[in-house]
Amino acid sequence: MGVRVTSGRSLLAAMMGVGMALGAQAANVPDLGPLPPIKVNKAKAELGKRLFFDKRLSGDAAIACATCHDPKQGWTQNKPLSDGYPGNGHFRNSPTMVNVAHKKVWNHDGRIGTGLNDMTREMITEDYIMNMDMRIMQERVKQDPVYLKMFKDAGYGEPSNGKVRKAIPEYLKSLTSQNAPFDTGKMSKSAKRGLTLFKGKGGCIQCHNGPLATDEKAHNTGVPENFDVFLDPNNHQAFIAFAMFQGIENFMNIKRDPGYYNVTMDSADVGKFITPSLRELKYTAPYMHNGMLKTLNDVVAFYNMGGGMDSKKSSLLKPLGLSKAEQKDLVAFLLSLSGDQLTSAKYVWQGAYPAEYPVIENWKNVRN
Ligand code: HEC
Ligand code: HEC
Repeated sequence: MGVRVTSGRSLLAAMMGVGMALGAQAANVPDLGPLPPIKVNKAKAELGKRLFFDKRLSGDAAIACATCHDPKQGWTQNKPLSDGYPGNGHFRNSPTMVNVAHKKVWNHDGRIGTGLNDMTREMITEDYIMNMDMRIMQERVKQDPVYLKMFKDAGYGEPSNGKVRKAIPEYLKSLTSQNAPFDTGKMSKSAKRGLTLFKGKGGCIQCHNGPLATDEKAHNTGVPENFDVFLDPNNHQAFIAFAMFQGIENFMNIKRDPGYYNVTMDSADVGKFITPSLRELKYTAPYMHNGMLKTLNDVVAFYNMGGGMDSKKSSLLKPLGLSKAEQKDLVAFLLSLSGDQLTSAKYVWQGAYPAEYPVIENWKNVRN
């Protein structure tokens, strides 16, 4: 990824495992910074908000987007592996929705890079996620007079599956970090020391850079496998469905998340995952693609050891030799990237959904 240790002294230090004095300058990467503003269409976003919390968008009307991306749990689920469609589990940790509209690649393996419209389609139709047929979804939405009005008011005309896939991404644009101390400048002394370590001795900025603190590239950090994926039949069945559909060979027998290999089919990429954003971590524990690290202290201790154990681990990771106090400062800095919890009515749909619908007369002759 183009990053080289330039001075012989730092190279020696890295080899000796005492950490390298690598500044942001040496790494030559975009600096951290505020998120650029995003324009949001209010009426379209309001419609997307109602859809995001509506269980009728899933096949059996039991789960909504918000079931796995729960505002009260940092728009994730605070457990290692996400729930799945009823009858399934999942094989990865649910990512937050906050700042998701600022990203350019999505999913832990980066398999979607074409936009949140496609991401929304995948979530609705995938059988281990919402297991919904788009045509049925469209008809369900059309049965609800509140939606008829909201689609019209948003300038979309009649409800359609394509418009649902536009309204939800419009709503996701409204979920962005608010008042994070890093952005407001109200950082504690410890957090400021942590920022210096982040850019220097810790070497974090090599991969976690730019306004989201991610290069959005794939790296192998050696996070251990979460064997609940393979030992719990609910999770395993979702994994098999996924791996089979993606064309991963030997999908019945492998006991390893293929990660970025799924995108490139290059064996060098097994175990690589996309660098996640470091914003809003205060609310999104546990961490990593499979939730294997419980706390931010654990994550920093993990990097202090030079990451996990994997023969293909990134050469950018080396033991850091951070003292206990330095590790604490680094955690304080990470927490300064978290702002207000987005749980008010501004972000969360709090209205009701109808349980019953008026009968459609002569329904066989109704045209779409
Ligand atoms: C059953 C749980 C579940 C439901 C329901 C669900 N998701 Fe997800 N979502 C996940 C998991 C798990 C991932 C990560 C998948 C992966 O990396 O392979 C994910 C990934 C995403 C991402 C990519 C995030 C990122 O940072 O890369 C977006 C965006 C998203 N979901 C939006 C939605 C929307 C919109 C809905 C409703 C239409 C929805 N999700 C419903 C579990 C769920
Ligand atoms: C070689 C690139 C690289 C470097 C250097 C790096 N990271 Fe990461 N980081 C990643 C990747 C890739 C992941 C995701 C791994 C996974 O999901 O298995 C990650 C995950 C994380 C997470 C978990 C986020 C979440 O939402 O689950 C935190 C916190 C984190 N890194 C902090 C740091 C800190 C602090 C440093 C410096 C001490 C650092 N990283 C250095 C690439 C890097």
